[in-house]
Amino acid sequence: MSGLKKVFIKTYGCQMNVYDSERMVEALGGQGYVETNRAEDADMILLNTCHIREKAAEKVYSELGRLKPLKQINPDLKIGVTGCVAQAEGEEIMRRMPVVDLVLGPQSYHRLPEHARELAEGRKAVDTEFPAEDKFTELKSRPLTRRAPAAFLTVQEGCDKFCAFCVVPYTRGAENSRPATAVLAEAQGLVDAGVREITLLGQNVNAYHGHDRGLAGLVRDLAAIDGLERIRYTTSHPNDMDDALIAAHGDCAKLMPYLHLPVQSGSDRILKAMNRKHSAEQYLRLIERIRAARPDIMLSSDFIVGFPGETDADHQASLDLIEAVGYGASFSFKYSARPGTPAAEKAPVADDVMDHRLHALQALIARQQRAVQESMVGREVGVLFEKTGRMAGQIVGKSDYLHAVYAKGDKALIGQVCRVRITESGPNSLGGELVGSS
Ligand code: SAH
Ligand code: SF4
Ligand code: F3S
Repeated sequence: MSGLKKVFIKTYGCQMNVYDSERMVEALGGQGYVETNRAEDADMILLNTCHIREKAAEKVYSELGRLKPLKQINPDLKIGVTGCVAQAEGEEIMRRMPVVDLVLGPQSYHRLPEHARELAEGRKAVDTEFPAEDKFTELKSRPLTRRAPAAFLTVQEGCDKFCAFCVVPYTRGAENSRPATAVLAEAQGLVDAGVREITLLGQNVNAYHGHDRGLAGLVRDLAAIDGLERIRYTTSHPNDMDDALIAAHGDCAKLMPYLHLPVQSGSDRILKAMNRKHSAEQYLRLIERIRAARPDIMLSSDFIVGFPGETDADHQASLDLIEAVGYGASFSFKYSARPGTPAAEKAPVADDVMDHRLHALQALIARQQRAVQESMVGREVGVLFEKTGRMAGQIVGKSDYLHAVYAKGDKALIGQVCRVRITESGPNSLGGELVGSS
């Protein structure tokens, strides 16, 4: 077929980047591009990058080194860097890697079609301004192609919290919420295209203010959409969990019983140095209130070990907090100094100490995760089946609590929420038997 060009996009980092990558491919659709999953076949390669930790940023440069020879095979190939590394490092990327043709920040990707035209004329482009116009109003509405049963939908972007370790306020800019009407229209379109579960995304999603009743108001309006069966949201900040949102967990049946509520540390001294603006005790009280509204809610968190100044006692306080909460899952990271953030000025904790603490914390989290998974055996849960499994006759989906669940069943059940009795707990998933569809 003449005229069709191929774009290959590789996504790093958080779910917001996953969403942005989809929208970038869609935006290029108007320029005659189709997506390919083979970099060797592409006319344009985009790396949608993450700057959160040093390792994440360095991955981009090694990938660019690997991609370089492809330009010898296809001299017309264009290579672009988008996302948070693009925003943080700008032109520096082209200086370090002349193979790059385009550097495009996360707030400017609605301009991708015009940049694609510039690139086709042999020019290079760097676009990392925070533009006055909002990309979501500039982007064309999403094509009505058949979609997978579970989808992401970005409703809020940016962050005004300025945690002392974090680059997000610099790479994504100030907090900005999309109007509820735009979100509801996009959600309706997704449902019309076969989506049954929507995860609302934002760096601080519960600070959403595009609805006069906040995120809780948006969730309730979404719950009124016929055919949308499940709603989730991520990531939340403890200080933005308001009463209305907690209440929604108690009485909005479509809002799933899973909440990712990062606390980062259990030590008040470290929480203060991190600029998190709440204590460990306040976090634990909040968890009590959420559990009072929805006793079976599954909780997860993020933890940073080795923040500058962290002592053994501070680390123990994190372990104590984890014991006190009982998480279903958690993510933990060694502190990584990020240029331009306040914490990067401070003396680091020794690397071997960080390794040791990370190991201890992850062992505790893994123990809790296993215990929660095992507690599911014998229970009946809802599962939205999303795809076929590796074994013949097997289908795979996510439970209400976000566990991966395998069961024997017909492919026709993909896209449906079914009742499943959990019969076994494996390392990263559960096995079950179909009870019937709801
Ligand atoms: N907006 C979310 C998460 C943003 S980044 C929130 O407020 O929780 C995801 C996670 O990466 C953070 O929760 C934190 O645990 C981790 N992280 C962020 N900056 C980091 C750094 N400099 N070093 C190590 N981990 C970091
Ligand atoms: Fe980063 Fe803190 Fe904002 Fe989360 S709340 S994005 S950790 S600054
Ligand atoms: Fe990474 Fe940017 Fe997301 S730094 S975690 S891709 S907001």
